[in-house]
Order: sequence, then structure tokens, then C-alpha cells
Amino acid sequence: MTKVIADHIVINKFSPVEGHYFIKLQSPVEIPTINPGNFAEILVDSTPEVFLRRPFSILDVHYKKKWISFYVKAIGQGSKRLGDLNKGDKVNLIYPLGNSYGIPVNAKKVLIVMGGSGIAPFILLAKELMKKNVKVVFLLGGRSSKEILLTSEFSKYGEVLMMTEDGSLGEKGLVTEHSLFKGTFDFDLVYTCGPEPMMKAVAEIAVKRGTACQASLENMMACGFGICLCCVTPTHEGNKRVCYEGPVFDVNYLKWQT
Ligand SMILES: Cc1cc2nc3c(=O)[nH]c(=O)nc-3n(C[C@H](O)[C@H](O)[C@H](O)COP(=O)(O)OP(=O)(O)OC[C@H]3O[C@@H](n4cnc5c(N)ncnc54)[C@H](O)[C@@H]3O)c2cc1C
Ligand code: FES
Repeated sequence: MTKVIADHIVINKFSPVEGHYFIKLQSPVEIPTINPGNFAEILVDSTPEVFLRRPFSILDVHYKKKWISFYVKAIGQGSKRLGDLNKGDKVNLIYPLGNSYGIPVNAKKVLIVMGGSGIAPFILLAKELMKKNVKVVFLLGGRSSKEILLTSEFSKYGEVLMMTEDGSLGEKGLVTEHSLFKGTFDFDLVYTCGPEPMMKAVAEIAVKRGTACQASLENMMACGFGICLCCVTPTHEGNKRVCYEGPVFDVNYLKWQT
């Protein structure tokens, strides 16, 4: 797969809530095909203490206009610095990296469960699912309404359900306690991305219901393209590199202690 390694220019930055940023970057070159679930390794410039690139899912792309966008939740030095970027700033990216979500040919209705920064891979997936006439239910979870983002965007592609721990938006509680899981579970597939305990809980429900489930792991990474082995996850076929064989895995393949 063709990779881009190039400086990109910030053309737009939007922060709906403090610490959460949507950043659009102009590419100097043609953008190769990006599949839902692919990520980029972003170089955090002018920050000597953050010398390793940081991985971020590709949120959206426009091939003709040659822009690519990301969602960044500021949690440490690197992501905070990315959030401080301004229009006109230069950012070096390597992409597309990793594998992508699979869409079974017979899928008619799917559930997408996301929490925290786990929203990022699902706009591109939603677009692909819509092209294939697959019905989608999005379930977004967060600690409070401040962490529930992109709902109007997701609503273009399907039904949006919400769950907050403080009850400020949608139902109150953990995402896996949503009433959706108590009724008829007629999904052909569940996709999930977010904090690992959430994904494990979602995977457990899907497995119990006999429904296939794909999870996108967010292990910490160094190189991002399969060399350093710092991102491995144990699977039933040995250790696999999340940056290279992943980040998307069928949960039955993972050796999660669920
Ligand atoms: C494939 C992939 C896709 C990702 N996509 C997105 C995205 O679209 N948007 C987004 O906001 N974030 C995403 N992340 C997470 C993002 O890469 C990290 O938040 C970022 O690297 C943290 O860098 P930092 O320098 O800000 O924090 P650091 O200073 O490196 O770390 C700050 C704290 O966060 C912890 N931490 C760092 N990375 C992770 C991680 N991956 N998981 C859990 N804890 C971590 C550290 O242990 C430390 O306690 C993704 C991660 C992966 C692997
Ligand atoms: S981050 Fe280096 S092998 Fe995955």
C-alpha cells in the first residue's frame, strides 16, 4: 500500500470542548486510499521530550481537495501540543498505517460502540456501511455530555444512542449497561473502539449473543509500522503487532482476559 510521508499544513482547527480538537490538514500530494480503521503516525514538532511519533486514527479524508482530518483528545505532552497547533502550522505525517474494519457481504444491521477517543475511526466506516446499505446504530459513551462528540455527524448515517456516567446525556451508566443490550439483539456485527475495559465488556456481550465483534486496539506505539514490537497483543496465534496486523482484530482472536 502506498504510504505518504510528508509535511501537511493545518487548514482548520475546531475545539468543541476544552481538550478535544478536530484538525484538518492539507496534503501536498495525492492522498492514497484510506480504509476505515487506518491510522497515521504524527510527528509532534518543537517538543524534544516527545521524540516518538504519536498514532491517531484517520477521521475523514477528501481525495479531490487533498485534505485529511483527525480528532485529538489531549491527554499528555504530545496530544496537548497537537491541540495547540494553529492554522498554517506544519505537521509531518506518515499514513495510511495498519489494517481496517471488515464488512461482511451479508451484513444488514450493525452496532458501533464507542467511548473516549474511540469515535475517530467510525466516520469513514459509517460512509462505507452506507454505500453498502448496511443499517447502523451508533452507541456513544462518556463520563459526561462533554465527552459525547460528533453526534450530528453520526446521525447522517444511522440512529445515535448515548450513555453518560453522570446521566447528563442519554441513559445514565456505563455504555454496556444501555437498555439496547437488554432487548432483542438483531445485529450482524458489533464494532468497537475506546478504552480497553469498555471494549472487553462489549466483546463479552457480543460473544455471549453469538455476534461477531471487531475491536480497534489503541496500544501504545513507537515505530507504528511493525519494527519495534512495542505494541504487541497476545492472540490465539501468538503475539501480533497492533500497528501492523492490527489495530482492528476479531475479538475471538484476542487473548483478552474476559
Ligand atoms: C491506532 C491508534 C489510534 C489512535 N487514535 C486516536 C485518535 O483518533 N484520537 C485520539 O485522541 N487518540 C488516539 N489514540 C491514542 C493516542 O495515540 C494517544 O493519546 C497519544 O499517543 C498520547 O500521546 P501523548 O504524548 O499526548 O501522551 P503521553 O505523554 O505519551 O501519555 C500520557 C498518558 O496517557 C497514557 N497513554 C498514552 N498513549 C495511550 C494509549 N494509546 N492508550 C492508553 N493510554 C495511553 C500514558 O501511559 C500516560 O499515562 C490512538 C492510539 C492508537 C494506537
Ligand atoms: S509500534 Fe513498533 S511494532 Fe508496533
